[in-house]
Amino acid sequence: MGRHVQMALVLACLALLAVMAGCSAPGSGPEPAGDSAVASVEPEMVTPLPAPSASGGASLAEALAQRRSIRSFAQESLTTAQLGQLCWAAQGVTSPHGYRTAPSAGALYPLEIYVVTAAGVFHYEPGSHQLVAASEADRRQALYEAALRQDPVREAPAIFVVTAVYGRTAEKYGPERSPRYVHLEAGHAAQNLLLQAVALGLGGVPIGAFQDQQVQEALGLPADREPLYLIPVGYPQEASP
Ligand SMILES: Cc1cc2nc3c(=O)[nH]c(=O)nc-3n(C[C@H](O)[C@H](O)[C@H](O)COP(=O)(O)O)c2cc1C
Repeated sequence: MGRHVQMALVLACLALLAVMAGCSAPGSGPEPAGDSAVASVEPEMVTPLPAPSASGGASLAEALAQRRSIRSFAQESLTTAQLGQLCWAAQGVTSPHGYRTAPSAGALYPLEIYVVTAAGVFHYEPGSHQLVAASEADRRQALYEAALRQDPVREAPAIFVVTAVYGRTAEKYGPERSPRYVHLEAGHAAQNLLLQAVALGLGGVPIGAFQDQQVQEALGLPADREPLYLIPVGYPQEASP
């Protein structure tokens, strides 16, 4: 058995274990709020996601070579499996100990991922690999307004929103150092998601220009969840430059 096949099998088993165990984050930091929230939500608000795939798609080198910011999308919506795979790439659990696809200072995991589609606003719960509905309204127009009317935000079938709870990291690393760590982590998560999009035949663009408070209001985010990145994703409609 080839080494990469063995590695893919190990990763697949770890992902499955993590999903089955509903692992909590490692380390001594606070439990991510999202994980503990699962038990209290109504079942109809929860979208279970298919187990993420830890193999297949384009190779990493191919995804790196092909990634380009895509700002124009076909109308076609994304499947639940695609949404789940993209969330998993950004923040999925890949270890029985709760470690994730993206590194995190002190394994404190300050990031929370939201997905905005025509069907509503959904919060990704890494421990259980589920989407939990925060709103069932189409908030894309409000998000477009908050993002200085950038077309990709209005056109994309799904916009991933990387938010941060700064306090989780600040508790251990203090107010001066911790913002840097949180921002570095957002970069890790965003790049994972963008490369995963390419591997799925999709495209996206990382958007940093938006009004923070307007994004929070558009999505009804809790006050401690600060938006860092909007990442519209869909089937590319433009030729690569
Ligand atoms: C921190 C950051 C913020 C960005 N914000 C925006 C944005 O608000 N709108 C946009 O269209 N592109 C945005 N981009 C994408 C860049 O314009 C793009 O990465 C750059 O033109 C290089 O092209 P490439 O991504 O295709 O390699 C951002 C990129 C980064 C890293």
